Amino acid sequence: MKLKTTRPLGGLRLHHGYLHPEAQAQLLVALRSVLAQAPLYTPRMPKSGRPFTVRMSNCGPLGWVSDRNGYRYQPLHPETARPWPPMPPMLLTIWSELAGYADPPEACLINFYAADAKMGLHQDRDEADFAAPVVSVSLGDTCLFRVGGHKRDAPARAFRLSSGDAVVLGGEARLAFHGVDRIYPGTSRLLPEGGRINLTLRRVTRGAGAGLDRRSGAEAPHVKQRQI
Ligand code: SIN
Ligand code: FE2
Repeated sequence: MKLKTTRPLGGLRLHHGYLHPEAQAQLLVALRSVLAQAPLYTPRMPKSGRPFTVRMSNCGPLGWVSDRNGYRYQPLHPETARPWPPMPPMLLTIWSELAGYADPPEACLINFYAADAKMGLHQDRDEADFAAPVVSVSLGDTCLFRVGGHKRDAPARAFRLSSGDAVVLGGEARLAFHGVDRIYPGTSRLLPEGGRINLTLRRVTRGAGAGLDRRSGAEAPHVKQRQI
């Protein structure tokens, strides 16, 4: 009989309490200005056109969008047809602290989860460069986050992500299936309207060649982290 291996994928990093409360509030102010220019909209599933329960926007040169025609990155907001606003400098700092990748991120997807929103298991694979990790930051209500393996039916682990937590999906975990099972309403007072914001920073095109920067970021000793 062939034994199924359930070893956790390497390259998954959880930084609990990465952003302290003042930094969360500061990031939120920057996001409010981004969302005033690029409002949240309801994306739709490819083919079926079914609406997502999560509302989305982006900042940075490229934004991830989904509609009947499929998933893709594009430079313009699908409803306003205007360029995505620039990434707030704080997001670039977060990337340089956590990504361990020399080239800057090109897209920041902003997901807003109301109390009943969730996100099904999926892989982030619309990018040309899987050498760069995906760096994610959570604000607002706690959620139950699920991470599995490279196949949809591989064993998955679920853990809570709270306001200020950061997750890095790099290395083997870069293509791990992941999703959000549920939100726990009322667990944070950061967003007066309640709900959860998740920011995912990504490199979309291939970096200029500098690639993984092992001297900084993910391995920096001052960054609180643990392998999970
Ligand atoms: C995503 O995978 O796009 C979002 C993950 C999250 O909301 O934590
Ligand atoms: Fe994702």
